[in-house]
Amino acid sequence: MTDPTPFLDFLSSRRSVKAQMLTEPAPDDATLTALLQTGMSAPDHGAIRPWRFKVIRGADREKLSDLFETAMRKRDQNIDDEMIANIRSKPMRSPLIVAIGVSVVEGHPKVPVIEQVVAAACATENFLLAAHASGYGAVLLTGWPAFDESVRLGLGFEKKDKMIGFVYLGTPVEDPRSVARPDVRQFIETWSGPV
Ligand SMILES: Cc1cc2nc3c(=O)[nH]c(=O)nc-3n(C[C@H](O)[C@H](O)[C@H](O)COP(=O)(O)O)c2cc1C
Repeated sequence: MTDPTPFLDFLSSRRSVKAQMLTEPAPDDATLTALLQTGMSAPDHGAIRPWRFKVIRGADREKLSDLFETAMRKRDQNIDDEMIANIRSKPMRSPLIVAIGVSVVEGHPKVPVIEQVVAAACATENFLLAAHASGYGAVLLTGWPAFDESVRLGLGFEKKDKMIGFVYLGTPVEDPRSVARPDVRQFIETWSGPV
């Protein structure tokens, strides 16, 4: 049997890199496809494959800024220039963004919506790990735009759909510092019957 320790250490070494610490090069289209392919191995009740990946790179990020600005103005008529500049700057922080949504099947006889969201979240984690394995930095972010209907529709999702969030991707400008993680034993207990 092979020693899994190096792989377990690799899994445990994943950490997020701040979006503003990500620069070119981002994965090219072929590499990105290979990274996203790992999502297809996510656990998926009913083989619904509910995840959808919208790839936004280069100049198209400005169009995401437009979408965020329009949504923000709709939400609050008294918005000031500083707030607009701030929201517009969000998509410009990293060279590549993948907006991950859940194409929800409503009223499925066996798979409630929560399970479809969980499947897409698992696919997202595979993607984050694949990016990490390839030396790219990434971070999953939501914020209000991920829950805003006009943003969701503008990205090409439907009203009923959900978003997992925006994965910002690129090459870290510096080696991310390793972070100490809690000891999992505080989250484990042996259950030996109802309490
Ligand atoms: C669904 C989801 C949405 C998130 N949205 C945000 C966010 O909007 N802003 C943020 O600072 N972190 C957000 N995070 C947390 C980061 O992705 C990241 O996990 C956190 O910064 C800790 O870094 P680590 O992944 O290295 O532990 C989100 C995480 C998840 C799972």
